[in-house]
Amino acid sequence: MKKIYLDHAATTPVDKRVLREMQPYFSEKFGNASSLHLFGLEAGEAMEKSREQVAKAINARPEEIIFTSGGTESDNIALQGVAYTNRRKGKHIITTKIEHHAVENTCKFLEKSGFEVSYLDVDKEGFIDLAKLEKKMEDETILVSVMHANNEIGTIEPVKEIGELCRERGIYFHTDAVQSVGKEKIDVQRMNVDLLSASGHKFYGPKGIGFLYVKQGTKICPLMHGGNHEKGLRSGTENVAGIVGMAKALEIAEGERVEEAARERKLAKKLVNGALKMRNSWLNGPAIGKKRLSNNVNLGFDFVEGESMVLMLSDKGIAASTGSACSTKSLEPSHVLRAIGLPHVKCHGSLRFTLGRSTTKKDIDFVLKELPVIVKKLRDISPLRKVLDIGRFEEKGRARA
Ligand SMILES: Cc1ncc(COP(=O)(O)O)c(C=O)c1O
Repeated sequence: MKKIYLDHAATTPVDKRVLREMQPYFSEKFGNASSLHLFGLEAGEAMEKSREQVAKAINARPEEIIFTSGGTESDNIALQGVAYTNRRKGKHIITTKIEHHAVENTCKFLEKSGFEVSYLDVDKEGFIDLAKLEKKMEDETILVSVMHANNEIGTIEPVKEIGELCRERGIYFHTDAVQSVGKEKIDVQRMNVDLLSASGHKFYGPKGIGFLYVKQGTKICPLMHGGNHEKGLRSGTENVAGIVGMAKALEIAEGERVEEAARERKLAKKLVNGALKMRNSWLNGPAIGKKRLSNNVNLGFDFVEGESMVLMLSDKGIAASTGSACSTKSLEPSHVLRAIGLPHVKCHGSLRFTLGRSTTKKDIDFVLKELPVIVKKLRDISPLRKVLDIGRFEEKGRARA
């Protein structure tokens, strides 16, 4: 059975060119980057070269890049680090109702520690309203955290404009760019961001490595204390192989970004057009080609459980998802789909395909052949459909009578 991987928002395979670059740093170049001897110097040099590569890719300075273990840690350092350091200035934070759990749950934790958090609504495509954001800003506001691109429905938020509003008021602006790095142009100067989170495994780098951009002069404190690595903001012996791999992955992604995005967008369009031929189906998030990640397709189907579709697709060799990889095992409806106004029952019928470098037209054709069969099978046995159909029948009957 051919395996078709369409869950690139959850993770991506390590690019072979990346793996090749990393390999020496597991064995012959194994030194601790903090050691003074030749082994340490070799590792340290590779790490600093990688820092320069990452900084160049996002138009930052090398000293503004802090290596972390991934997106979750970057988000935590950004939010908690800024909150605790600036608590004397104010205790108000603004975020959105569609953030990844790494931001959402950190905000909930900060609420328990005495901070006040405002969660902005989004419209039916997932966009925040700049006027509403502005209205929420007050003297006590110290931080705004709005994701660059949403991991479930692909919405790309107006970060540049958000950053401008924050700059005018001296409020720190953090963006979770875990899903957009490598897919969208990232320029921290143009985006007006003070802090930006990224994760290597989302752009064909290894897992367990990420970075946080911290604009020079940002008042922030560490969450972990130790040997003062990474300018004291993230102690712990550096993951040199991971760092080298992530920097290489970012360099490759940036070089191939425009062409690859156009290719994936075309395939995404084909998938959506084909899938929406099914009755009682819809696309969640903005239209393909609009302010949406090029590889994201989030579909909804009435009378079907997303989890059942994922399992039946998996039996055919197709890997898809119901949404965020972190919440697939919970029966709670997606907070993102709830926030865009989908009723509870419709949230459960969602299915996310996220395309990637390996995705071909043939793969999409195969999905479009198998998906309608699966949806029909599930609808035929859906108790929900029976209840709703009976309801409709009764309504018609009453109307006739
Ligand atoms: C938007 C977003 N933020 C943060 C994370 C967490 O990143 P990591 O898995 O590197 O901890 C993810 C992972 O899916 C994500 O999609």
